Amino acid sequence: MLILGIESSCDETAAAVVEDGRCVRSSRIATQIEIHRRYGGVVPELASRTHVLDIVPVIEDALREAGVGFADLDAIAVTQGPGLVGALLVGLEAAKAVAYARGLPLLPVHHLAGHLHAVYLHRPGEPAPAGPAWPHVALCVSGGHTALYRVDAPGRAEMLATTRDDAAGEAFDKVARMLGLGYPGGPVVERGAVGGDARRHKFTMPRFRDDAPLDFSFSGLKTAVLTTVQALGGALPEGDALRDLLASFQQAAVDQLVDRTVAAARAVGVRDVQIAGGVACNGVLRATLREALSAHGITLHVAVPRDCTDNAAMIAGVAGAMVTVERLAAGPLAEDRALNARVTWGLSP
Ligand code: KG4
Ligand code: ZN
Repeated sequence: MLILGIESSCDETAAAVVEDGRCVRSSRIATQIEIHRRYGGVVPELASRTHVLDIVPVIEDALREAGVGFADLDAIAVTQGPGLVGALLVGLEAAKAVAYARGLPLLPVHHLAGHLHAVYLHRPGEPAPAGPAWPHVALCVSGGHTALYRVDAPGRAEMLATTRDDAAGEAFDKVARMLGLGYPGGPVVERGAVGGDARRHKFTMPRFRDDAPLDFSFSGLKTAVLTTVQALGGALPEGDALRDLLASFQQAAVDQLVDRTVAAARAVGVRDVQIAGGVACNGVLRATLREALSAHGITLHVAVPRDCTDNAAMIAGVAGAMVTVERLAAGPLAEDRALNARVTWGLSP
């Protein structure tokens, strides 16, 4: 079964061909990072316009790289939400056009369900990873989301905790911007923290004593970094001072993510945990969480970095894992053509 996946929820225009929900025959991404960099974050209108320019060439490239044509496909999968409305609509309309023209079923996908599937993907000729068994706990950490889920099956998850303010990736992006380090913040903060003293600045971990103690909060940490910078007397830190500040911030963010994730995994009683989303690229997070979980006999699973950030292989993959034989046989449905973007859309049923 070959599915063409299309993803355009934020600032990456992506298309991919995935076989049987697991094997990535191609995964193409046109990134808009350079376009948004000078604004320090994603400008929604520019994102939509750039998706319009990139969507057709990216789809053509994905098919060419996979060595297939439209006639070889069994279905089209597309991110329906959540995301930026104008950005989502570009991918949705392209997917509808291909599905309609080729008489193929259109499979709408939740963006986070896609991220949760990246850990099961592999390339042709590589062994398929076993991946986390179901149910497992997933830490979903990106620029727009920070949440813990109990994942019961592909695309089916129950939210256990969420952030009360900023997402973790957003905190990395804002701290990088505050320090004049550019965008996106995660990779620059991680690189800039290498060799820094993570204990130089003590940032306190937020604790909630209400009925959602596993919830996250990153706005206090962001403000604490700002206060530290202001205390330096106005000039932005450089050299060791910068490295120490970045390492201390990164450690505080990682410690909070690890604290909540270990507590959730133990409370639910699972043997497997995964990290999904762009922040899963962070090596300090991976290493710290892997070690903390192994002390409790729990295994950590993480996708390769290129599959952690936004891509379309995860979208085609999860659609392939969820679709039924009946749905494939039914072909295009009338409601496919009325499919609209879902800007806010919870993953839990
Ligand atoms: O999943 P993603 O590509 O897009 C969203 O759906 O948001 O995640 C992007 C986020 C950005 O906030 C970026 O700064 C963060 O992931 N990120 C990282 C790292 N690489 C990307 N955060 C921390 N460390 C990294 N190495
Ligand atoms: Zn994402």
